[in-house]
Amino acid sequence: MAQRRFLVTSALPYSNGRLHVGHIAGAYLPADTYVRFLRARGEDVRFICGSDDNGVAALMTARERGQSVEELTAFYNARQKADFEGLGIRFDIYGGTHQPDFVELHNRISQDFFKAIYDKGLFVKRTTEQLYDTQADQFLPDRYVKGTCYECGAKGAYGDQCEACGISIDPMKLIDPVSTVTNTRPVPRKTTHWYLQLQRLEERLRAWLESKREPTDGTPPWRETVLNFSLGQINTGLPERAMTRDLTWGVPVPLDDPDAAGKVLYVWFDAPIGYVSFTARLCQDVDGDWRTYERWWKDPDCRIVHFIGEDNTVFHALTWPAMLMAESTYQLPWQVVANAFLNIRFPGKEEEKISKSRGTAIWIEEWLQTFEADPLRYYLTAIAPESARTAFDVNAFITRNNTELLNVLGNFVNRTLTFANRYFDGHVPPAGERAAEDQAHLANVAAHAERVTQRLENLRFKAGLEEIMSLARVANVYFDLKQPWKQRKEDLAACGTTINVCIQTVRTLGTLMAPYLPFSAEKVAGMLRLDAAELLVWDRATHELPAGHALGEPAILFKKLEATEAS
Ligand code: MF3
Ligand code: ZN
Repeated sequence: MAQRRFLVTSALPYSNGRLHVGHIAGAYLPADTYVRFLRARGEDVRFICGSDDNGVAALMTARERGQSVEELTAFYNARQKADFEGLGIRFDIYGGTHQPDFVELHNRISQDFFKAIYDKGLFVKRTTEQLYDTQADQFLPDRYVKGTCYECGAKGAYGDQCEACGISIDPMKLIDPVSTVTNTRPVPRKTTHWYLQLQRLEERLRAWLESKREPTDGTPPWRETVLNFSLGQINTGLPERAMTRDLTWGVPVPLDDPDAAGKVLYVWFDAPIGYVSFTARLCQDVDGDWRTYERWWKDPDCRIVHFIGEDNTVFHALTWPAMLMAESTYQLPWQVVANAFLNIRFPGKEEEKISKSRGTAIWIEEWLQTFEADPLRYYLTAIAPESARTAFDVNAFITRNNTELLNVLGNFVNRTLTFANRYFDGHVPPAGERAAEDQAHLANVAAHAERVTQRLENLRFKAGLEEIMSLARVANVYFDLKQPWKQRKEDLAACGTTINVCIQTVRTLGTLMAPYLPFSAEKVAGMLRLDAAELLVWDRATHELPAGHALGEPAILFKKLEATEAS
């Protein structure tokens, strides 16, 4: 098959906080798994991420901590990078929309993008009244205003939504509004912004999204959740959205208009352009010319895949494609892959939302001080919230590590390789005369490999992992059925055939598990004394190791975990 080109992105994390298991399960782990799979298939891939530094949230956090916003975002950018590294999530570049090494190119590409849309006449300039905090000297974003709901009378409703009755709030209508920044009463003040006329793109967006239900080119259909949500929004009508803000932190609005002075692009306008500007920054490093980013972003031969969490769906499946259509020289995403949220369940408690403020988050940084990366990668894929919310449960993590990774996958690899080490002098025994059940097992291995390939091609990561575990189970059944420990005493050649077949199965498992469990796959490569690069070639998953091949030392693949380690 000819090499294909993919540009894969994961949602840019806000750089005002750390990463927890929910983030990883949503937008990062499946993306990394997919990228590793594509690379094993020989595809040309770029994997892009970085921090979302602009916007009011980072500014507020910095203010609360008495830090500069540059310092704050640099600090979290570096920690996020370390978290990803520790989990084996390997981007080709980890940028940041306001990091020193990126901000110049990011601003330039974002401003060009804005101007292109402006020139096409898809913005409309409007002056409206918004709430202004005279003490903090700033306009207040909706969620920094609280007040009494004009619909149900509940106190403490936020400026964007009333949690009591659920209506979406017009902050100008809140009764007794209070700024959460200074606790003072904000006043209405006039301001001018540029609104993207999303309603003018509704029909194109609808047709494009509809075409993703059953693509005619054999590519995987989008997940129902993404399509239903986005098409539902179009059916109720897309509102115009202001794409500029009264702020000092961000990308300056690139217009020669006195009304644009002191304003920046809306953070949700510039953040997805971060995908582009980080690609350009990477191209500068790799090709010596940042403009080669167009090869990824404007050439329809390249497939763009965005991995996101469910809360980002509206921006990636509607606003961003609308921006791309409006700009008009870019191609549209090939896939927008969204996962639902991951909840959490603590021992003896009900399932609940992961929340930083309520202390229910499990931070990657802390987790990695106790556990290795692969067991977490395994568990987060096994419970991946691909179509609905699921819950992270530390006890279930321990149980599944012990009963699945260790007892099924690790056990098969271990029993095969220790047997070969002990009774065949650490070499692959001759295949000998393979009987029907040996052939049948190998055919079954190949069939499993084919199904894992299909699942991964179709972005069904959980199902792919289940196939791998099914293969490991089948392999243990084969081992038990053949009883090589008995065969050894009765018919050494037949025993050799069994172990040969088992070693081939380990080899296949090693290749198939690599996108999911990269650290463990590397250990398998070592135990098979197979060049790691060789193990990572997908098409050779069922290539057999020749008789007489010298194996490496068998070692433990997964550690048994005790429940106490989780506390
Ligand atoms: N920072 C956003 C979040 O964490 C995601 C931004 S994705 C991007 O929800 F495309 F806009 F960059
Ligand atoms: Zn209400």
